[in-house]
Amino acid sequence: MPRPAVRRLQWSSFFALAVDAHPVYADSFDLLFDPVEDIVDEHEHCGWANPIDLTIKASTSSPFEAHGQEVIEIREDDCGNRVLMMGGFLQCHSVDEHIYHEMMIHPALSVFLLQSGRAPEKIFLGGSGDGAGPREVLRWRSVLNATMVDIDYEVTRFASEWMPQLANGSFQDPRLHLVTGDAMQYLQELPKDHTFDVIILDFPDVADSRALEKLYSVDFYRLCREHMHEKSVLVAQTGPCTHMNRAGFRASCNMLEHFILPSIVKVFQEVDVLLHPMATWKVDRSISSEWSSFTMARLAEFEPLDVSQESWRKHIDGELRYYSGARHVAALHHPRPMVNRLLTLRGKAPLPGTSPLRQAAAEL
Ligand SMILES: *[C@@H]1O[C@H](CO)[C@@H](O)[C@H](O)[C@H]1NC(C)=O
Ligand SMILES: *[C@@H]1O[C@H](CO)[C@@H](O)[C@H](O)[C@H]1NC(C)=O
Repeated sequence: MPRPAVRRLQWSSFFALAVDAHPVYADSFDLLFDPVEDIVDEHEHCGWANPIDLTIKASTSSPFEAHGQEVIEIREDDCGNRVLMMGGFLQCHSVDEHIYHEMMIHPALSVFLLQSGRAPEKIFLGGSGDGAGPREVLRWRSVLNATMVDIDYEVTRFASEWMPQLANGSFQDPRLHLVTGDAMQYLQELPKDHTFDVIILDFPDVADSRALEKLYSVDFYRLCREHMHEKSVLVAQTGPCTHMNRAGFRASCNMLEHFILPSIVKVFQEVDVLLHPMATWKVDRSISSEWSSFTMARLAEFEPLDVSQESWRKHIDGELRYYSGARHVAALHHPRPMVNRLLTLRGKAPLPGTSPLRQAAAEL
């Protein structure tokens, strides 16, 4: 899980760029942003503009070494919505966590389905201890084994007690193989020929602790690659972006720029970034929303994939509240030119591959 919103990220440089207004941006922005704006409007009276101001309902502490002795809290807004916070960072807010978790899981599993011609069966999840990641994974009926490795069982225990709707029963699902431990060590010890269809990395933002840097390193991505077959898909939560706007954008995605892209393009053939807004991630009141970024990586050479046909929908139990084929495409629109300009400006080659999914963005 990311940890945006409460404290500002501290970074030495700030990257901002403006792209000329283009209808593709305005349309995809509205598609992604309208439901978020509705959530904000509906909760105006709930008093959660800044989560740190909310009432503490329960708290526990965790000895997880990457964070020292860390306080985990459940806070509650004026409408009774619960918020999971760790070390003073907003971790998960019940009013919009579905957006984050649907956008982390379903694009990656859908892309796997499209490029391999079969529904995903074996999944690896790093982090995601609150249970909402596995909840979305296990909605796919094709999934036979979701192996989840999280270092901190206290998060799982506490979230299960206070926000059971996050896991929604997934910890009782026999397909979930829950391991308390270090994801890197787990993958190192796993036999090399043990591969996953989809690898999902839902670790806290690297800004929260230097100990997390290894989970965003070239070495770690190489290790993940050893447990992927040629059609596997990897997706990682890659931190918040700020300063997005409707007329093109001025985006600042520090973690993505500084840590993720430089490493991940060294290991994978195809790299995509998906961006979508969140309702509860606010640095301050002047920013309408921070956006969440997910970086998806594949080994496969370019193949035309069309998620907008929604062939994935019949594999998923229950109703989706945010993810759709159109939103998948929209979430890919903003990042590509941003990422390529960023790499070019830094004297690096643009991202490899040009899929039709990204064509609208590439033509800009
Ligand atoms: C799921 O896969 C893991 C390896 O990642 C294995 O250790 C575990 O036994 C499997 N569980 C089931 C129920 O097959
Ligand atoms: C939670 O579980 C219930 C019962 O299995 C199911 O109907 C519902 O769709 C689930 N909700 C989510 C968000 O997974």
